[in-house]
Amino acid sequence: MKVLLAKSAGFCFGVKRAVDMAFDTDATKTTYTLGHIIHNEAVINKLHNKGIHSVEELDNIPMDQVIIRAHGVPEDVYKEANDKAIHVVDATCPYVTKIHKLVNRHERDGYKIILIGDAKHPEIIGINGWTKEGCIILKNIDELDLSKLSKEERYFVVSQTTYKKAVVDEIVNTLEQAGYDIKFTNTICSATSERQDEAREIAGQVDAMVVIGSRLSSNTQKLYEICQSICPNTHCIDDASMLEKEWFDGVEEVGVTAGASTPSDVINEVLTKLEQI
Ligand code: F3S
Repeated sequence: MKVLLAKSAGFCFGVKRAVDMAFDTDATKTTYTLGHIIHNEAVINKLHNKGIHSVEELDNIPMDQVIIRAHGVPEDVYKEANDKAIHVVDATCPYVTKIHKLVNRHERDGYKIILIGDAKHPEIIGINGWTKEGCIILKNIDELDLSKLSKEERYFVVSQTTYKKAVVDEIVNTLEQAGYDIKFTNTICSATSERQDEAREIAGQVDAMVVIGSRLSSNTQKLYEICQSICPNTHCIDDASMLEKEWFDGVEEVGVTAGASTPSDVINEVLTKLEQI
């Protein structure tokens, strides 16, 4: 069985930077990450061994420093850390920081902000928290209610960095065609679109596809959906232990890709096991 590995599989620039920053942090001080640094248990456990655990909020836990993960956080969190004299190790992906600045500035310039993404995703919660009034958050075109928008307003539109381009394009095109005054900045990270394009291309060439990453990771789930729609024999796994031999009966070529939070050693273990199969 031939194995075709996507070049773009695994850590993106922002996640690699955040993980490196967490491991480089001086853990002789009481340090927590705000939420898990990435959706990967092996990495989280390694950080635990270094003495760095995670908390969901800054409330009530004495600490010297807090690490902010690549997804970023609302502006209030920085103020709260400052009030509590907690040092911030800011591992927010620079591409996400750019969105924080964009929405903040455009709101001050009089725009209403439309944010395309999943309202429960930490990145969206973070971006929303850089506006005073809050954003109009749309998960998909079904949530776009034109009767709630006004042609007297100006709207600034951005999206979650890991969102599907087709969903964003559909909303932006609908708003434009309906004659609303919108300014759109494409904030989909190229790491995501490149990984998705490559996954699409490979899924079209193989008999089976393996997507490595956590079920909790939204970009992994999107990769899975894309591959599955092209190659029905697609499987999403956390690591090599989840591979099942039967999936590859009669398979001549298998494609492999991985979400942005999948470490390279996990990918290598999967490749080794596939070669054995
Ligand atoms: Fe940043 Fe793009 Fe990764 S926004 S965290 S480099 S997917």
